[in-house]
Amino acid sequence: MTEVAEPATVDDVFPLERSCPFAPPPAYEKLREAGPVQRVGLPDGSEAWAITRLEEVRQMLTDPRFSSDRFNPGFPTLVKNGRPQRRRFGASLINMDPPEHGAARREVVGEFTVKRMKALQPRIQQIVDEHIDAILAGPKPADLVSALALPVPSLVICEQLGVPYADHDFFQSRSSILLNREVTQEVRVQAVEEMQDFLDKLVAAKEADPTDDLLGRQILKQREEHGDVDHDSLVSLAFLLLLAGHETTANMISLGTVALLENPDQLEIIKNDPGKTLDAVEELLRYFTIAEFATSRVATQDVEIGGQLIREGEGVLGLSYSGNRDETAFEDADKLDLERGARHHVAFGFGPHQCLGQNLARMELQIVFDTLFRRIPELKLAAPVDQLPFKHDSAIFGLYCLPVTW
Ligand code: HEM
Repeated sequence: MTEVAEPATVDDVFPLERSCPFAPPPAYEKLREAGPVQRVGLPDGSEAWAITRLEEVRQMLTDPRFSSDRFNPGFPTLVKNGRPQRRRFGASLINMDPPEHGAARREVVGEFTVKRMKALQPRIQQIVDEHIDAILAGPKPADLVSALALPVPSLVICEQLGVPYADHDFFQSRSSILLNREVTQEVRVQAVEEMQDFLDKLVAAKEADPTDDLLGRQILKQREEHGDVDHDSLVSLAFLLLLAGHETTANMISLGTVALLENPDQLEIIKNDPGKTLDAVEELLRYFTIAEFATSRVATQDVEIGGQLIREGEGVLGLSYSGNRDETAFEDADKLDLERGARHHVAFGFGPHQCLGQNLARMELQIVFDTLFRRIPELKLAAPVDQLPFKHDSAIFGLYCLPVTW
């Protein structure tokens, strides 16, 4: 589906739009051909380096001379209006560098082990089944985003963190605004402020009366180990986990469903053998790479990557979507091939910041796809693909709604 296009240059301002929902911007292929590190333009008129090939993306993401501090003036920003503002409650994991990052990640990594996630499996299955019951009992067509894709990961992360699900309209709408690249700085800052206020109060309530959930356990652990609670760091952690925990997986559920319905031969593979769904999930993650700019960095020293000198202070886009379509790493990379064995993709990033919630996301996606196509085998789209509202304006690619029938 990729169209032939001219190579991107600094005149091509990132983020470039996906040519169709199933393919990266056509310029990515030309950029890869031109070399592993290319100069590109940014919305504020500045420039950055784009890393285009899988090997160099991985190399960059494991090199400690690149910083994740989104508030560093050299950090490449892709929003149309303004720059990220430092948060009232300090940095969260995703913005930290060593040694602060490693210490903060170790505090919470135990909450996301494969073992912990396995223990959540029955509850996730129950949540998915209840939502599919409601779809089947409701009118046709149904909107799969509001009926399944968004509530499932939202409920799961709420229960894990100890956030009341009754507040889902509030946090889902604020998350959607703050990820939107087109809104004004004022609107974005207001959404951030409102989320912070909400989580500030929630964490304070848990400090007064610790509950048995991730936030409550962090409070007890900090008291035991340090004698007191770092309130601000917990608000920042809750913010990151609540946002990353629902928006990402929700979009992968809706996009994955469209891709499977549009490729019936591929869908048959998992219908015939659910043992293949986990591999299918990896391929869908690679195929869409919904958070491709989460792997951006700024150089804190001069570094050479792929034969190119990147100078201290320069911004770098680790183009994970381009890396995931790199023909030298994935044969016939533009094809959706659920059986290819795509585990070396970088859709969850790579290196020290690699997605903390990846085991949870994998499990949610596996359960959703298995259950959805087993319980509604006649599921089909209720609108042509080219009329679906894809999120071309969001930092996380996805769908605003997805009409389906059966
Ligand atoms: C980090 C993608 C689901 C929590 C990341 C990064 C990517 C990513 C690309 C790397 C950022 C970087 O290099 O700076 C995704 C995708 C998901 C997903 C594609 C779903 C399909 C989740 C879920 C959670 C989560 C469900 C939480 C429960 C996090 C956190 C980080 C992170 C906390 C920061 C880790 C760190 O900086 O040490 N994610 N994510 N993500 N993700 Fe996810």
